[in-house]
Amino acid sequence: TTYNLLLLPGDGIGPEVMAQVSKVLDALGRAGIARFETETDLVGGASIDAHGVPLTDAALARADAADAILLGAVGGPKWNGVAYDNRPEAGLLRLRKDLGLFANLRPAICYPALADASALKRELVEGLDIMIVRELTGGVYFGAPKEITVLPDGTKRAVDTQVYTTGEIERIAHVAFDLARKRSGRVASAEKHNVMKSGVLWKEVVTAVHAAHYAELELEHVLADNCAMQLVRRPKQFDVLVTDNLFGDVLSDVAAMLTGSLGMLPSASLGAVDAKGSRKALYEPVHGSAPDIACQDLANPLAMIGSLAMALRYSFGLGEAADLLDGAIKDAFAGGARTRDIAAPGAQAVGTAAMGDVIVAA
Ligand code: NAI
Ligand code: MG
Repeated sequence: TTYNLLLLPGDGIGPEVMAQVSKVLDALGRAGIARFETETDLVGGASIDAHGVPLTDAALARADAADAILLGAVGGPKWNGVAYDNRPEAGLLRLRKDLGLFANLRPAICYPALADASALKRELVEGLDIMIVRELTGGVYFGAPKEITVLPDGTKRAVDTQVYTTGEIERIAHVAFDLARKRSGRVASAEKHNVMKSGVLWKEVVTAVHAAHYAELELEHVLADNCAMQLVRRPKQFDVLVTDNLFGDVLSDVAAMLTGSLGMLPSASLGAVDAKGSRKALYEPVHGSAPDIACQDLANPLAMIGSLAMALRYSFGLGEAADLLDGAIKDAFAGGARTRDIAAPGAQAVGTAAMGDVIVAA
């Protein structure tokens, strides 16, 4: 089989970290592990510069046709003056929305070698391995009405609306339970049923999906604010954590700070499984375009390479190849290779390209 990948390097450090992914793809091909055919296109500021829009219809069509999409990062000060609806981030939002990528998977893994860089004490985070499953296309970021109106007295009133349907909650619950089956078998679901109707429905639907299809798994309901507290107090109690768009945004950023480095965190955004059994998927690092370190060979490429590992696992069923790649990251650490963001203060660091070479060698 040849897998068809669309590479969207984007802006800032995006192209630099994507170049390391290309090296890894070549190496996987040479080793006979998997063959990839790649196409490359523009997104974000790079696309604005070339075409005047952050994502062209042609690029979107290519994304739609690809087996999976790898995206670097978008944005930067150069495009601060661009109209809001045409800003670099709008290209990414269009990809997510038009491809129906409703499930955002954000692993938070704390590598022992990096535990001292965590926001928490080593013993609380060493060995941490959480998978946050965030609903990405519904909830308060998208619900209508969404408006600011002027009141008769001249002051204003802002409205955002949280909307969830049974179907939207069911499909994200399935993603979480399916993941848990391959992990520890434990799912925590976070909402606020004590003060929100959408929380009441969320809890009801997750409970029903669990009872009907995953009764052998362990399900725990946790209030989202308590969940934030527990993530900081005793994070290793969680394995798979499923939650809505808003709470997921916040909780996944909390979890990111437990791991030690932004440069290490991959993510996946998945769509629905179609009649042929495949699903749209976009893989990208959690970090942004890091304009402060762009073009200096300083970026950590491991979040991008880890995103490729997720693509191998979740889009191509190449679990063993994904394990190999995750193992290469651990071996690189064990061998002492660190980019500047994860190196001990004053210690020798390797550059972006050299880290890519270390992974290929491993
Ligand atoms: P950022 O994630 O780009 O950078 C935050 C800090 O982390 C910076 O000091 C940066 O140097 C460092 N950093 C990030 N990734 C790193 C890596 N791989 N290796 C080493 N250090 C790394 O977030 P920031 O500065 O808030 O945003 C910069 C631009 O990126 C903005 O235009 C923002 O809108 C955009 N952005 C894009 C995202 C995306 O494409 N998904 C996500 C977040 C921000
Ligand atoms: Mg966020």
